[in-house]
Amino acid sequence: MIMQMTKKTKLKICDWSLLFLTIAILVSGLQLEISPNGRVMWVWIHIVLGTVFTGVILWHIQLHRNHVTKKQSMSHIHRKKHPFLGILFFLMLISGIVATGHWVGTYIHSTIGGIHGKFGFLFIITIMGHVWRNRRFYR
Ligand code: HEM
Ligand code: HEM
Repeated sequence: MIMQMTKKTKLKICDWSLLFLTIAILVSGLQLEISPNGRVMWVWIHIVLGTVFTGVILWHIQLHRNHVTKKQSMSHIHRKKHPFLGILFFLMLISGIVATGHWVGTYIHSTIGGIHGKFGFLFIITIMGHVWRNRRFYR
């Protein structure tokens, strides 16, 4: 079914989902930061949310990569790059995976988990700038 949808529909579903997922992961991250020794269940919810978020972001990047034609991508006007978004996404994800590896089995908070949280928040701040610049899409 998803294959038959137009590009525009896919972008709508993808980018609206991202907006809600950004808010959800922010709330979840804040919750973990405020009560680091809370219930194990909250971390599981965070990991599931984070994994879905990562998946939809990869879909988003792929959709926008195909969105610009070859000719357009040659011109400098359309070659917008997102170094900070990309770098922080990578740092958040790698540290998140390592934190998950440490957490599963021990169920205790780790230093890498704390570092991951900082990268995560910086990533969210960068996303806010990105969304603000693209705000026309949501109107
Ligand atoms: C690693 C993270 C991300 C990367 C690398 C990325 C990359 C891109 C790129 C390359 C574009 C094309 C237009 C432009 O250059 O500005 C774009 C557009 C856009 N992005 Fe992202 N994005 C990321 C995360 C997000 C998230 C989390 C959201 C929403 C909460 C979002 C919302 C949008 C919107 C609304 C547009 C404009 C869509 C349109 O006009 O068709 N992006 N993004
Ligand atoms: C933008 C996305 C994300 C944000 C903003 C974020 C934010 C946070 C924050 C603030 C914490 C609490 C750190 C602390 O207690 O000091 C945390 C913990 C954690 N996150 Fe994320 N996270 C994100 C994505 C992910 C992803 C994708 C994964 C898994 C692959 C993940 C796995 C974890 C784990 C396992 C913990 C617990 C670590 C521990 O307490 O030692 N997170 N995250």
